[in-house]
Amino acid sequence: MFFSLPHSLILLTSAILFQPPTVTAYKPLSDSFLRAIPSPDDTIDPVNGSLLAPLLIPRVPGTPGQKTVQHHLVNYFQTELPRWSIEWQNSTSPTPISGGAEIPFANLIVRREPPWVQPGQSNLLTLVAHYDSKYQPEGFIGATDSAAPCAMLMHVAKVVDAHVTRMYDEMAALGEGGSVAMDMGIQIIFLDGEEAFIKWTDEDSLYGSRALASEWSQTPNPPSSPSKFYHHRTPLSQISLFLLLDLLGASSPQVPSYFPTTHWAYTHLSTIETRLRSLQLLESTPTAPFLPDANGTMGHGHRVSDDHLPFMGGGVEVLHVIPSPFPGVWHKMVDDGAHLDMPTVRDWCRIVGAFVLEWLDMMEVWDEPGEEVEVESGMAERKRWVA
Ligand SMILES: *[C@@H]1O[C@H](CO)[C@@H](O)[C@H](O)[C@H]1NC(C)=O
Ligand SMILES: *[C@@H]1O[C@H](CO)[C@@H](O)[C@H](O)[C@H]1NC(C)=O
Ligand SMILES: *[C@@H]1O[C@H](CO)[C@@H](O)[C@H](O)[C@H]1NC(C)=O
Ligand SMILES: [Zn+2]
Repeated sequence: MFFSLPHSLILLTSAILFQPPTVTAYKPLSDSFLRAIPSPDDTIDPVNGSLLAPLLIPRVPGTPGQKTVQHHLVNYFQTELPRWSIEWQNSTSPTPISGGAEIPFANLIVRREPPWVQPGQSNLLTLVAHYDSKYQPEGFIGATDSAAPCAMLMHVAKVVDAHVTRMYDEMAALGEGGSVAMDMGIQIIFLDGEEAFIKWTDEDSLYGSRALASEWSQTPNPPSSPSKFYHHRTPLSQISLFLLLDLLGASSPQVPSYFPTTHWAYTHLSTIETRLRSLQLLESTPTAPFLPDANGTMGHGHRVSDDHLPFMGGGVEVLHVIPSPFPGVWHKMVDDGAHLDMPTVRDWCRIVGAFVLEWLDMMEVWDEPGEEVEVESGMAERKRWVA
């Protein structure tokens, strides 16, 4: 990614402040739920962790490393999370170093939706990181950029899967599937070709995200039947929030709030950090909170060009989780596994995991220790909220 000047066009869209969409009228997770969110532990160890270690190789588009990492990602979802659908969106493009040859770019989309939905019906919390690494300097690993964020998302998928499964099963058993305008699902996009090969320009960067946003904006979902189902016109408009992680894994990150229209979502993320820290569920000891802008400063972060831009151009709401300033290791050989701050990496897993569980309204299927659970009335209440 790259620093850019504030976008006056984007600023125009800031008219609707603090207006979370009605579909996210969720309950905060209880303390006991926060305590139960598992740590990634060893799976995210840079030397031998099953999630992270295989990602810490050069993985430039068009090279064998790209294929190796693609297999790692797909294999994880096929073996560990078989209920998630797996889809590729592929494109090719020449690059400034390819001598006119077409280089392959492959975005991987994994998705967990309610089993009853028709195409275009669900709204999808969308978690995003790029899995490619930079061509130069030769041998560059990109641990924060963005191997660690990819591993975080693999972990988060596992954390939410059991809860999502229970919610879908209970709703299906109650015959509630499709009866409300809030069929929420989650998708994770592992983007390819974020990095520039030579120098960041509109053409030499964001190869994967440009191709995907373009395809999704131009592909109408099949018409819905029966028409009572909520229906989004395109896959792009199914994205309820585009939560982009980038350059995470160094100690004491400072992630500002970048966009007024999603400052409310930023505040939720920040509140989760504050709560986890006060419950002593975080390991890192940063000089300041990771997400410091919750009380006051709103959407003033100096904008950074990154994979959200093609989606934002299509009207998608974005929460950009990228530190400013960038980590000191940025685009240097030392951005490797040995320079990750593991307490910080594990804390991001907890913070993002909790945010996703909360967004997906998982308190509905959380059994509070010592409390009688009334699923049915809870579900009825959900319905009323969205009516
Ligand atoms: C994995 O690597 C870490 C160091 O990064 C080490 O502490 C741990 O013992 C290793 N575990 C195994 C099973 O080799
Ligand atoms: C898209 O790319 C992936 C990853 O390289 C590959 O496995 C898949 O077969 C490709 N799909 C198509 C339709 O070419
Ligand atoms: C925001 O204010 C609340 C209430 O005073 C405080 O507990 C929290 O730590 C603050 N958050 C940040 C990120 O400073
Ligand atoms: Zn980069």
